[in-house]
Amino acid sequence: MIGVKRKKDLIVVEDLQMVYRVGKIEVPALRGVDFTVKEGEFVAVVGPSGCGKSTLLHLMGGLMKPTAGRILVEGICISSVSDVERTRIRRHKMGFVFQSYNLLNTLTAGENIALAQRIHGDGYYEKGSARRILRLLGVEDKMDHKPCELSGGEQQRVAIARAVVNSPPLLLADEPTGSLDSENSRMVLDILQELNQSSGQTIIIITHDPEAASTAHRVLEMRDGKIVNPVQNLFYAVEDQSS
Ligand SMILES: Nc1ncnc2c1ncn2[C@@H]1O[C@H](COP(=O)(O)OP(=O)(O)OP(=O)(O)O)[C@@H](O)[C@H]1O
Ligand SMILES: [Mg+2]
Repeated sequence: MIGVKRKKDLIVVEDLQMVYRVGKIEVPALRGVDFTVKEGEFVAVVGPSGCGKSTLLHLMGGLMKPTAGRILVEGICISSVSDVERTRIRRHKMGFVFQSYNLLNTLTAGENIALAQRIHGDGYYEKGSARRILRLLGVEDKMDHKPCELSGGEQQRVAIARAVVNSPPLLLADEPTGSLDSENSRMVLDILQELNQSSGQTIIIITHDPEAASTAHRVLEMRDGKIVNPVQNLFYAVEDQSS
């Protein structure tokens, strides 16, 4: 069909398994998870506490290695590359947002973002872009404030700015609204939706918030280490405005 093209697979997860070992006890956290995320998708992962959501996100982000199975990021298997290569992929391909913001308390909002840029660019960074992204997220006036001088919602907006300043193909968020009141949650969700719609940012978000899940294109429901609604977008085609 003219003007319609298939989106590329950004993440492919195949038979992913994770068993934590605590002394002699084995804790199975993922028991065979399969799914694909296309470029530009906004996916919510939901499920009861302890079902394996954060484990899945950490594995997709290359923060640890699975017990078995594969994770392909733009075709590269991050579960089998060296630690150095996995770190490189993480830096260039992913941004992370957590419930507890995880900003460095001794640095200002602007410095937190500049640090992420420096790490990404091996020391090089463009000075104006921290301000630009903070302006976009409505917290430019907080540029020189430290995290303790910001509200929870403001801290999370700075954390999102830090996660996307290097334009990673994938944004991974673990309960980003979990510590926020409903007004700030809405604001953070609006920002994520805007990033997805205006710049095509691919987003995978873990949430307990029905409103957050309803913001997504697709919901993956987990129970006891598995996805229980394994509906795939078998034909995910969108109008290619550029063609
Ligand atoms: N570092 C760890 N060592 C041992 N067991 C762990 C570890 N991290 C998680 N687990 C266990 O793995 C299972 C899945 O945990 P996970 O944190 O992925 O759940 P979750 O769905 O994110 O839960 P929540 O909604 O409470 O954040 C749980 O049984 C948990 O106790
Ligand atoms: Mg969790």
